[in-house]
Amino acid sequence: MRLLDWHIKNNVMRVVKIIGVRPENPQVKTLFFIDECCRLAEPGQFIMVWIPGVDEIPLSVSSVQPDGSSSITVAEVGEATRALTSMKVGDLIGVRGPFGSGFKVTGERALVVGGGTGMAPLMILINRLVRMGVDVTVIEGAERYSKLIFLNDLTDLSRNYGVRVLFTTEDGSYGFSGLATELAESLLKRERFDVIYTCGPEKMIRRIYELAKTYSIDLQASLERYMRCAIGICGSCTIGRYRVCRDGPVFSMDRLKEIEEYLGLFKYDERGERVPV
Ligand SMILES: Cc1cc2nc3c(=O)[nH]c(=O)nc-3n(C[C@H](O)[C@H](O)[C@H](O)COP(=O)(O)OP(=O)(O)OC[C@H]3O[C@@H](n4cnc5c(N)ncnc54)[C@H](O)[C@@H]3O)c2cc1C
Ligand code: FES
Repeated sequence: MRLLDWHIKNNVMRVVKIIGVRPENPQVKTLFFIDECCRLAEPGQFIMVWIPGVDEIPLSVSSVQPDGSSSITVAEVGEATRALTSMKVGDLIGVRGPFGSGFKVTGERALVVGGGTGMAPLMILINRLVRMGVDVTVIEGAERYSKLIFLNDLTDLSRNYGVRVLFTTEDGSYGFSGLATELAESLLKRERFDVIYTCGPEKMIRRIYELAKTYSIDLQASLERYMRCAIGICGSCTIGRYRVCRDGPVFSMDRLKEIEEYLGLFKYDERGERVPV
C-alpha cells in the first residue's frame, strides 16, 4: 500500500465491534476489538475512539493479542469514559489511528514507572521489551490496592519471563508503602539502568524527569494533552513548540528538556486557556 493510502486509511474512522470486556478494577475496564490498523500499533501509540452520540477521545493501545485483536484500557472519569466502561460485547465504537510516535527500545536494563491508566501504553511496551531480551524492572504505583491495574498480567510476566514487578500504594494497602517515585529513587541510588520509560500523572512524570537528570539516565515519557484532530492540525495539544499528537505522545529526554517550563506545571484546557496541571 502506498504511504498516502496508508495515512488515509489510518485516519478514516472504522466502526468496530467490542469482542471482549475485562474489568481491571472497579473504575477501569479493558475493551477488546479487531481492527487491521490497530493491530500494527507500536508501544506508546494512541487511537481516537468515537463513542456514538457522546464524544471522540484519545486512548492508548494497551495490547495487541496473538489473535490480532487489540485493546484499550479505560478509566471512568467523565461522560465519554463512563459510556465506554458501560459497553458490552457486541456494542460498536469508531476508531481512528494509531497515531503519534511511541517508545523506542534502547539499552539492556530498563526501569518502567507507571501510575493509573498510564500503565496502558507501558503494558504493550513491557511485552515488547521482554520479547527483545531486555532486563525489565516495573514499578506500578496507585493510591490504594483497589486502584492497581494489570495485576494478573504483570504477575504472569514476572513468573514466566523474570520481569521484576514492584507495586507501591500510597496508603500501604499493597506492595511498598509510598509513591512510585520514592521507590524509583531508592532503586536509582543503588542500581544502574540504561533507560527509564514512564507514563501516568504528570506530577509523577515531572519527578521522574528530575530523577533521570540527577542520575544521568535516558528517559522516555508519554504525555497527555487535550486532543481533537490527532494529526497535528488543530493545535489543541500544543506543549512548547511541539504538538503532543504528532510529535509525541512519547517524548525523549532532549525534547523533555525543551518543554521543562510546562512539564507537570501548565497545560491548555479545551477552551485553549492556560491552566495548572
Ligand atoms: C495520548 C493520550 C492517551 C490517553 N490514554 C488513555 C488511556 O489509555 N486510558 C484512559 O483511561 N485515559 C487515557 N487518556 C485520557 C482520556 O483521553 C481522558 O480521560 C478522556 O478524554 C476523558 O473524557 P471524558 O468525557 O470521560 O471526561 P471529561 O469529563 O470530558 O474530561 C475529564 C478530563 O479528561 C481530559 N480530557 C477530556 N477530553 C479530552 C480529550 N479530547 N483529549 C485529552 N484529554 C481529554 C481532560 O483533562 C479533562 O479534564 C489519554 C489521553 C491522551 C491525550
Ligand atoms: S490534537 Fe490537533 S494538533 Fe494535536
